[in-house]
Amino acid sequence: MATDRPHRPDVNAPLALYVHWPWCLSKCPYCDFNSRPLVPGERDQIDYRGAILRELEHYAQQTNSRPLSSIFFGGGTPSLIAPATIHAIIDAAQRHWSLQSDCEITLEANPTSIEAAKFRAFQDAGVNRVSIGVQALNDEDLQALGREHSVDEALRALDIASAIFNRYTFDLIYARPGQGQGDWADELEQALSLANGHVSLYQLTIEPGTAFFRQNRVEAEEDLAADLYQMTQEMCEDAGLPAYEVSNHAKPGLESRHNLTYWTGGDYIGVGPGAHGRLTAQPDGATGMTVTRATHQIADPARWLESVSKKGHATAKVRELSRHERLEELVLSGLRLRDGLDAARFVAQCGQDLATALNAEALSDLQQAELIEVDTRGVRTTAQGRLILNAIIARLLDEPPLVTAPA
Ligand SMILES: C[S@@+](CC[C@H](N)C(=O)[O-])C[C@H]1O[C@@H](n2cnc3c(N)ncnc32)[C@H](O)[C@@H]1O
Ligand code: SF4
Repeated sequence: MATDRPHRPDVNAPLALYVHWPWCLSKCPYCDFNSRPLVPGERDQIDYRGAILRELEHYAQQTNSRPLSSIFFGGGTPSLIAPATIHAIIDAAQRHWSLQSDCEITLEANPTSIEAAKFRAFQDAGVNRVSIGVQALNDEDLQALGREHSVDEALRALDIASAIFNRYTFDLIYARPGQGQGDWADELEQALSLANGHVSLYQLTIEPGTAFFRQNRVEAEEDLAADLYQMTQEMCEDAGLPAYEVSNHAKPGLESRHNLTYWTGGDYIGVGPGAHGRLTAQPDGATGMTVTRATHQIADPARWLESVSKKGHATAKVRELSRHERLEELVLSGLRLRDGLDAARFVAQCGQDLATALNAEALSDLQQAELIEVDTRGVRTTAQGRLILNAIIARLLDEPPLVTAPA
């Protein structure tokens, strides 16, 4: 591996802020996110609000010279949070950091009627974008996915969102059990007619630890998954919503700014149970070298609350990433983007040129096979390459191949 070059990521660049809310009405059988059913009365939202505010204060002490470019309330189901709590959190963020004038503030919402009825109050609290978990556009499949809402409720939630927010998006899960190409084509066509410049389309994965995993459910066969993926790309492209990331499609300019921060290796603060963060700092200004630290909050909500009340934060771990770990994560996330890895940004972020960081033989072979494009701007996959993205990443990083599914 080549020697490190001094590198200068902008340690004062804007930050993204992620706020995790771990509760849901019930646990969906496919979901391995840090979420659990809300037991009424078990924990008061006031406790949670106070604890989030304390974690914000904790991280603000280390980073408050940097403005925020986005805030994302994720979960779990943050649309279960009282709008007054969302307001208090946004308000505190504004006091601790300055919010950029176009700060994107997204809240993940489930489309039950109770949650959709709160959209106006969320907007009043400062939210300017909702991401709605529609998941399927037929009731039978919604039930099979263990969802609490119906198609009618999902359509109503989209309707309400369109009347309130300039920007909103929704998620669908495809390659569901028994779903053929024709079924998905019809559903996607309907979805695209409902889209407002952004949709997230995920292939169903069966994750260890989930109810589906315990029931021995299986993912769609590789060939069918690849056909569904390709069809998805074509239909979205034709509708003016090309993929800007493996599973995310947007009209140019309407991409999720928050998620782009993750995929382009930007810094972000993560508060709430199980949230992760990445913070780059310059511990010794003399050499110009910087370090990126990964932060992890305690995942279990009760232990998280206890730690915050004792120490003012529940950071379980702060770990300095080695140069190689940083390089790997930049490649892994950057190649998920259609624009791929930006050469200048990469060298600024990890002190190595793409040409020396990536396996030279793999670069040349993959380029010749028209699976990647390499030029002075950087490295990106072709449409064909995106079908085997994980295998390409493994070759470029000189590692054994991972799973080959595209989404
Ligand atoms: C944090 S989750 C859920 C947000 C929100 N609580 C909801 O359910 O709508 C974000 C998205 O990941 C997707 N997702 C979660 N588990 C998945 C799985 N096993 N396979 C495919 N997509 C999944 C769903 O589309 C979901 O909306
Ligand atoms: S998919 Fe969403 S609603 Fe379902 S358990 Fe996961 S986070 Fe909760």
